[in-house]
This record gives sequence, C-alpha cells and structure tokens, in this order.
Amino acid sequence: MKLLIDDADIENIKRIYSYYPIDGVTTNPSILAQSGRNPYEVLKEIRAVIGDNAELHAQVISEKAEDMIEEAHKMVDILGKNTYVKIPTVPEGLKAMKHLSKEGYKITATAIYTPMQAYLAARSGADYVAPYVNRIDNLGANGIESTKMMQDILDGEQKTQILAASFKNANQIQELCAYGIGAATVAPDVIDNLIKNACVTAAVKDFTRDFETLCGKGKTMLDCDA
Ligand code: G3P
Repeated sequence: MKLLIDDADIENIKRIYSYYPIDGVTTNPSILAQSGRNPYEVLKEIRAVIGDNAELHAQVISEKAEDMIEEAHKMVDILGKNTYVKIPTVPEGLKAMKHLSKEGYKITATAIYTPMQAYLAARSGADYVAPYVNRIDNLGANGIESTKMMQDILDGEQKTQILAASFKNANQIQELCAYGIGAATVAPDVIDNLIKNACVTAAVKDFTRDFETLCGKGKTMLDCDA
C-alpha cells in the first residue's frame, strides 16, 4: 500500500518525508485554507520539496464539468505531470473525469462516501477513488467495510486503485493495508501513530543500556573497539 501525507504544511511534510517511506502528498481546499496563503504558492512549494516524481494531489473548485476541465489543465501545467487532479464524485465531476481521462490526465475521484460512487468514478476513468473512511464512520456506517466493498467492486477494473482518506487512528489504516488497498493518505500525527509504541521505545532503551554496560557510556559499534 502506498502511503501519502494528507497535509499542506511544509514543515510537517519535510519532517514526515525525512523519517517515513512516503509516495506523495494530498491536499484539499480545506487543508489549503489552513495555510492562509495562495494555493499555487503552497502547492509549488510542496512540489519543490517532494520532487517531480512524487504524487501531488490537488482539487478543482468549479461546479461545472467544463470549468473543472479548464482548472485541471492549468493545475497540471503549473504543478507538473505527476499531479493528480482531485475531482468531487458528483455528476458534473464524472463528466469531467470522462473527458480528462481521455486526454490522459491523472484523476483522483474524491468525496466518496458510497461504493457506487467509487464504481461510477472508476468507469469514468479515475486512477484513484478516495473514500473518506472516518467521515463514513461518523455517519453511523462502517468506513472500513465500505472501503473493502469498493476494493471488491474495483477488482474487475484495470486501472483504478483506492486511495483511502480521512483516518483518525492506526487501526483503520492497518485493516485496509492488510486487505490490499492501493494507497492511503494520512495526516502527519496519525502517520506518527503507526509506529509510536512505548514497548518499542523501552526495548531500544534496554539495548542501549546493556551495550553501555558492556562497552562504556556513549559507546556504539563505531567506537567500541577504540
Ligand atoms: O481529502 C479528504 C480527507 O482529507 C478528509 O479527511 O480528516 O477531513 O475527514 P478529514
């Protein structure tokens, strides 16, 4: 499963990239609004940090398909070929997806709450469909089970993968990872939680203590023979 960062904060992105195996960055209008800066300024900065080959996902705002298509052209012109144009999975969005996929654009169908939205987006040429796992849970439905059903439905599609989004805890991600979901986009604090574990910290501390008992304080394999 690919792992992406769902954030637009440059310092967060740099920190998470420095530690973890990351495939790209996703944003949405609400995430960009948190920066209080011009969207293109922020997105270009993110592109510079992650490089030309990483995935950058950014969303169109227009309501009509024709306008979404124009936005998509401009976004990819400015942000580079590995930019996935996020398009809301509504009827006008599906119309735009069909057009843009024929033109060879990379598309992430977003705002997905139901398996049938995922099905329609896949048939309209989306490369990714992005179900909102935690938001589905908040409706009293089951985000994990809905996403698994989408995966089963998409098994017949050649091109479309799931990019699961809206996570609040590590277990949600683990369940989808084990099910073979293609990608997950996760906020920095939840990515940290994938590996945060007091038992692991204690085990590593014990190893250091035992080694220092053997070789002396501050010694490592670099200088324990000195
Ligand atoms: O882009 C979709 C995703 O970022 C939504 O996450 O945490 O706002 O539910 P959240």
